[in-house]
Amino acid sequence: MLITFEGIDGAGKSTQIRKLQKLLAEKQCETIVLREPGGTEIAEKIRQILLESRHDITPVGELLLFSASRAELVQQVILPAIAEGKTVILDRFFDSTTAYQGYGRGLDAEMLQSIIRLSTFSLHPDITFYLDISPENAMLRKFSEKSLPLALEENELDRMERSGSDFYQRVRKGYHRIIEGEKNRFVVLDALDNPEKLHKEIVASLGERFPAFSGLRTP
Ligand code: TMP
Repeated sequence: MLITFEGIDGAGKSTQIRKLQKLLAEKQCETIVLREPGGTEIAEKIRQILLESRHDITPVGELLLFSASRAELVQQVILPAIAEGKTVILDRFFDSTTAYQGYGRGLDAEMLQSIIRLSTFSLHPDITFYLDISPENAMLRKFSEKSLPLALEENELDRMERSGSDFYQRVRKGYHRIIEGEKNRFVVLDALDNPEKLHKEIVASLGERFPAFSGLRTP
């Protein structure tokens, strides 16, 4: 079982992933949590290259680095875990590439899809939770009104976060387009809702769609 979480930076994915991981652990469901880019020694090194703000990377170079990290993680960790019957929770997967490198950076959709097929070994998530938030609210949530100018000044934003608000608007719209085309796989959540309410919605969706999770209850 592969569960993925998507959304622009600052949408609150990590909080929801932690809550779900805790609940599944309590129910003795064998789960591993991974993030993209990252999750193997090489993929973590690629993550550093991609996110360090001092690096200037071309859109195609960026696409290939995210894809290289993905290929390592899928082949070395995700596919073996799924084959052993584990539940994999993944913080970002190929939808991030379609949204960020496709809609955000403007790379060709067909070329993107063939690289995605190659780097994922055609693996598809069983369900994807998308946390929707505007770029303005996401930045405020991450840094608060007072510390945002400081964060910019002191270089606290990673290379992706420095791409600017127009870029994030395109990424968000991109996510909306992806979801339009694949409504059955996605559960769309309002990232500004209370975290407990969101957790309940996530657990309920899993229970409704998958018999293995039908007994899951939030406290
Ligand atoms: P995060 O792990 O903190 O979400 O950071 C990862 C950043 O990389 C985030 O800005 C989204 C971006 N990203 C892409 O642009 N394309 C991708 O394929 C992936 C997985 C992430």
